[in-house]
Amino acid sequence: METERLILRPWEDRDRAPLAAILGDPHVRRYYPSTATPEEVNAQIDHAIARTAEHGFHFWAAEHKADRKLIGLVGVASLSDRMRTVIDSDPGVEIGWQFDKNYWGQGLAPEGARAWLDHAWKTLGFAEVVAFTAQTNLPSQRVMEKIGMRRDPADDFAHPNLAEGHPLRQHVLYRIKRPG
Ligand SMILES: CC(C)(COP(=O)(O)OP(=O)(O)OC[C@H]1O[C@@H](n2cnc3c(N)ncnc32)[C@H](O)[C@@H]1OP(=O)(O)O)[C@@H](O)C(=O)NCCC(=O)NCCS
Repeated sequence: METERLILRPWEDRDRAPLAAILGDPHVRRYYPSTATPEEVNAQIDHAIARTAEHGFHFWAAEHKADRKLIGLVGVASLSDRMRTVIDSDPGVEIGWQFDKNYWGQGLAPEGARAWLDHAWKTLGFAEVVAFTAQTNLPSQRVMEKIGMRRDPADDFAHPNLAEGHPLRQHVLYRIKRPG
């Protein structure tokens, strides 16, 4: 898929080192329990390749058209069984993003996410998509709002992988339905 400034494509082996640099950055990961190690990033890419082969979609690479660099990930993915136990009336699919901090503040995440939502409605045939993040992750919630997602505080939940008292445990949930 292509947007004005991005190419959104499946993962290639050349993405492994640049993605590890992005997800290994403590500032990029400040709303996650930890940075991702290169091994975890490799496993994440392998998982995305396998899910794409199976379903045709997952979180994909976001490449910056102007300089041909990998600058992050964005996509839609099936909700894990674990997440489905804590999200009420879930549509089975989430949208998500993580970008290189050198490219923040230019509206690139919403640009990629809008293309993915369009794909989710028109090609993948989903009727609703959710997104969730830590209650304190306001930048990500701004992206959700910019692409037309809405939060119902009644949907807020405690992340099942984080222990009680963990500062990132409380999560917010945003939803968007297929237009029309
Ligand atoms: C969330 C994220 C993808 C936003 O991407 P982006 O391309 O910068 O999106 P936008 O340019 O539309 O900016 C969205 C908001 O991010 C915040 N933001 C922008 N530039 C920023 C910067 N340099 N530092 C901190 N926050 C910034 C602002 O609140 C902005 O909202 P505004 O446009 O109303 O001011 C990006 O900040 C990121 O990768 N964060 C780390 C990973 C993450 O938390 N992912 C979400 C997990 S659920």
